[in-house]
Amino acid sequence: MKINTQMLSCSDFDIAAAGEILRNGGLVAIPTETVYGLAANALDGKAVKKIFEAKGRPQDNPLIVHISEVNQVYDLVSCFTPLAKKLAEAFWPGPLTIILPKKDIIPKEVTCAMSTVGIRLPENENARKIITAAGVPLAAPSANSSGRPSPTAAKHVFDDMNGRIDAIVDGGECSVGVESTVVYAADGEEPLLLRPGGISPQMIADVCGACRIDDNILSDMEAVGEVMSPGMKHKHYSPDAKITLIESDFSAYKEYVKKNFAQGVFALCYDGEGRQLDGIPYIEFGKENDPESQCRQVFSALRELDEMHAETVFARCPLKEGTSLAVYNRLIRAAAFRKIKLQQMKGER
Ligand code: TXA
Ligand code: MG
Repeated sequence: MKINTQMLSCSDFDIAAAGEILRNGGLVAIPTETVYGLAANALDGKAVKKIFEAKGRPQDNPLIVHISEVNQVYDLVSCFTPLAKKLAEAFWPGPLTIILPKKDIIPKEVTCAMSTVGIRLPENENARKIITAAGVPLAAPSANSSGRPSPTAAKHVFDDMNGRIDAIVDGGECSVGVESTVVYAADGEEPLLLRPGGISPQMIADVCGACRIDDNILSDMEAVGEVMSPGMKHKHYSPDAKITLIESDFSAYKEYVKKNFAQGVFALCYDGEGRQLDGIPYIEFGKENDPESQCRQVFSALRELDEMHAETVFARCPLKEGTSLAVYNRLIRAAAFRKIKLQQMKGER
């Protein structure tokens, strides 16, 4: 059934309206610093179920719960572990989701019957105002149709969700641009990174002394069987085009793209490189040595490729370290794990 999707601003009046829709069991897409979230009352199983329907989300992929003040975590988890406290103190409000043992108050629709729950206190002020206006914690996955690139602008949400949700709050472009870092801190001495994001493994290690990285993040193989973070095993971020990551320097990349050029081929490259490709159509996704700019642009670049009807895309391959790891993680999934490593050309840097 198609419903009328209201477009709301971040005025006090509209935020109050968004809060009321949420309190009454509706679905509202909200801005956060990472990506837009598709929110529902996290304590209302029936409302949460609608998120899965609107997104076409697999039933075994749990949602994270958003709060507007640190103290609210005690209502939701059975143990705010010392490790989690350290992480929260360092990175909340901000783009970090902490996995903790859940309390029974959280319905099974949120956690997909897992014994843990992911909690995040976003930095985006409008996100926190909406949570406060709702008066309840909000379950919110990224507000894209399942499998599509995550939305970093209200327009992206509209393109995927118009007619399927009650409202979209337009808070402009997201400042981080990739989803939160997800870290397991429910037990043990060391945190375990389950999904890379704007907060890098090194930043976590600086606070906690160490940070283990889940094997599924670094292995280039598609995760099969049991994975700790269910979201990692699903098809993700996939645009219509067939993407291949090209691991090489720019000149070898350029040679490769020129040699394999045909109708429908696009380059996905760093700022300033496109015009050096001798007329091959391209989309740029940030500066080569500036992973923050790549985070901000990678998802909108994937959506632009679809709008331009790209069929085959050769993408520059980000590094697997620091904040770049988050960009690599999204792109290798968008590429369905297709990657080609080229020999560096002789005499090139
Ligand atoms: O930045 C973000 O995290 C955004 C904004 C809206 O806050 N939300 C987001 O949600 O990215 P979503 O559902 O697209 O991704 C949540 C990830 C999934 O990979 C999911 O499997 C994992 O967190 N997750 C959720 N609960 C979990 C749990 N109890 N244990 C392990 N992984 C969990
Ligand atoms: Mg998502």
